Amino acid sequence: MSSALTDLFPYPIVQAPMAGGVSVPQLAAAVSEAGGLGFLAAGYKTADGMYQEIKQLRGLTSRPFGVNVFMPQSEYAESGAVEVYAHQLAGEAAWYETELGDPDSGRDDGYDAKLAVLLDNPVPVVSFHFGVPSREVFDNLRRVGTRTLVTATTAEEARAVERAGADAVIAQGVEAGGHQGTHRDLPENDGAGIGLLSLVAQIREAVSIPVVAAGGIMRGSQIAAVLAAGASAAQLGTAFLATPESGAQDVHKQALTNPLFARTELTRAFSGRPARGLVNRFLREHGPYAPAAYPEIHHLTAPLRKAAGKAGDAQGMALWAGQGHRLARELPAGELVEVLAAELDAARTALSAKGGLR
Ligand SMILES: Cc1cc2nc3c(=O)[nH]c(=O)nc-3n(C[C@H](O)[C@H](O)[C@H](O)COP(=O)(O)O)c2cc1C
Repeated sequence: MSSALTDLFPYPIVQAPMAGGVSVPQLAAAVSEAGGLGFLAAGYKTADGMYQEIKQLRGLTSRPFGVNVFMPQSEYAESGAVEVYAHQLAGEAAWYETELGDPDSGRDDGYDAKLAVLLDNPVPVVSFHFGVPSREVFDNLRRVGTRTLVTATTAEEARAVERAGADAVIAQGVEAGGHQGTHRDLPENDGAGIGLLSLVAQIREAVSIPVVAAGGIMRGSQIAAVLAAGASAAQLGTAFLATPESGAQDVHKQALTNPLFARTELTRAFSGRPARGLVNRFLREHGPYAPAAYPEIHHLTAPLRKAAGKAGDAQGMALWAGQGHRLARELPAGELVEVLAAELDAARTALSAKGGLR
């Protein structure tokens, strides 16, 4: 990145924030120590839980890192849709011998409290998912020395990110594992997701702030490709999910390369918002009729996911993964950063030897 953001870390490699206990401080520390940018995920945590993780991470590394925050949700589900889905999940609750969660357990994910903590205890980088904060938020973070990023899934969203005053935009392709950071989840846009290389080119021409590319990147050669397309860095989630430092459950890690889970799909089955995961029984059965109702469905299915995880039942868990999951390597996170950097270097050398990009 030409701006000061990539000057913070030597390699153009960002470890994606992964909520749900995946991007724990040990993972972020290992990545930052190796020369990438490690990230904590504040999503689904309390403001204090986020603060405790920041303190823990600071104890593990003095290198720069990021914290990711979810935007509050303003889109409401069609009336009755959540109740109907709850009815459809009754058999799951009986199977896992648990109650369904309360869909009204909060819509803002403690946004204001988290921002207050991040202004009182500034961190090097903050990124936002599921929408764009107000200009005031960017001004305040800039004042305390924090660089900011926001996810975009279209050129229009990237323009909104730039207009609001962010330092950089994350171009998240449809290949990406986990939730699409679409600003407004509109069912009429289902199927309109844009592939990463196309998206990077579109966003590159739409805005002048630096672009970080995310979605399906598992090898250094792919990082070379997105850099050549105009990105300043690459953000990888699934690749780091498989590392020993990641907090993902072992069944989730193993499923990434298990031939039983041959493909991924975008689904609202677990949370009510489109997210990409390995196709398993729960996704197959409930994905087709799950309503657009985030975060209500996230809260509703929480006990089911927890029970499936406790039972080690990969068929009932949210196995978030990007389209590149088969290429996952079980390397320690720091080593993975080194390997990716070496692959990137080799790809660039090969390209320039052929008279291509330098
Ligand atoms: C398990 C998992 C959890 C994720 N959680 C978050 C999150 O909390 N915040 C966020 O901005 N992105 C989240 N993402 C999306 C990533 O930021 C990124 O877009 C994605 O991992 C890139 O695609 P890849 O997984 O194919 O590398 C998550 C992805 C995964 C796989």
